[in-house]
Amino acid sequence: MNDPADTLRHSLSTLLDGLPPKQAAQAVDRLIATYRGNTPTHTPILRDRADVAAYAAYRMPATFEAVHSALEAFAEAVPHWTPTSHTDVGGGTGAATWAATATWPEGDRTVTVLDWAEPALALGKEIATANPALRTATWQRAKIGAALTLDPADLVTVSYVLNELTAPDRTALVDAAATAAQAVVIVEPGTPDGYARIIEARDRLIAAGFRVAAPCPHSAACPIVPGEDWCHFSARVSRSSLHRQVKGGSLAYEDEKFAYVAATRLPAAPAPSRVVRRPQIRKGQVLLDLCESDERLARHTVTKRHGDLYKAARDATWGDPWPPR
Ligand SMILES: C[S@@+](CC[C@H](N)C(=O)[O-])C[C@H]1O[C@@H](n2cnc3c(N)ncnc32)[C@H](O)[C@@H]1O
Repeated sequence: MNDPADTLRHSLSTLLDGLPPKQAAQAVDRLIATYRGNTPTHTPILRDRADVAAYAAYRMPATFEAVHSALEAFAEAVPHWTPTSHTDVGGGTGAATWAATATWPEGDRTVTVLDWAEPALALGKEIATANPALRTATWQRAKIGAALTLDPADLVTVSYVLNELTAPDRTALVDAAATAAQAVVIVEPGTPDGYARIIEARDRLIAAGFRVAAPCPHSAACPIVPGEDWCHFSARVSRSSLHRQVKGGSLAYEDEKFAYVAATRLPAAPAPSRVVRRPQIRKGQVLLDLCESDERLARHTVTKRHGDLYKAARDATWGDPWPPR
């Protein structure tokens, strides 16, 4: 199969065909303004096809890359497992389902996308026709809230959704995911608030009997002091012409910052430690900021004297396990 990232990019590039560039940019501007407003909302933000097309063209490449990074980190910690069923809650146009097909290209999977915004589901289904692994996916209307129950699924993803929910609905969603799934992967924007929501969800998953597979090397309390710092990572996203139009400039890439937790009831081997900042390369040495299995953060200096480890440190990137597996 073609690389899902390329297929997705191609499908999205045709979405705004026929829409004058100015109108497309205006739809994105309106969406960005809505997302800056007071969320949660009582009705879907994605109201019609123009909203959804703007969301998909503008945000889906970034949410896809963020979820793909989180799922890859999970797959590294649980290497001999492939989900045979996947439910994406608040899935919108289905970015996380594309990310799952990129992480686990092999095997058949039952895929269900749940969302309360019908236009998002309709467009997601349309885009998914380009991805053979998603052709039989079910796109179903569902409202996240106290009444939400999920059918059992190997994997449940919740990508960029907690942000739009009230505190009781966040709790209901995480509890429903924990009851239904073997593995739960939750992704949020890489902001202090996004991190706080991830920690809240992480605590609930652990209380429900899950262990953290990534990014944390352990399932004990996060060593970051709230308010002083926040754990987040970065995924590189190719910029589309729409991005350049809305944001100006000519950069070919931008970096999507995200926070995540990937937890499971399956046996998992989390990384011994993880690189939690961009490594700093100095003359003859690399400075690595690590979150470690003994529940603390520490800076390690790897020098030429460390031989192969030094070479590995020069190649290490933010978010990688350390030492390399
Ligand atoms: C920012 S979008 C993320 C979409 C997708 N998961 C992604 O990563 O690209 C948030 C999604 O959550 C959905 N959503 C928000 N509140 C919801 C609720 N109470 N019930 C069901 N879906 C909801 C929205 O309709 C929207 O599709």
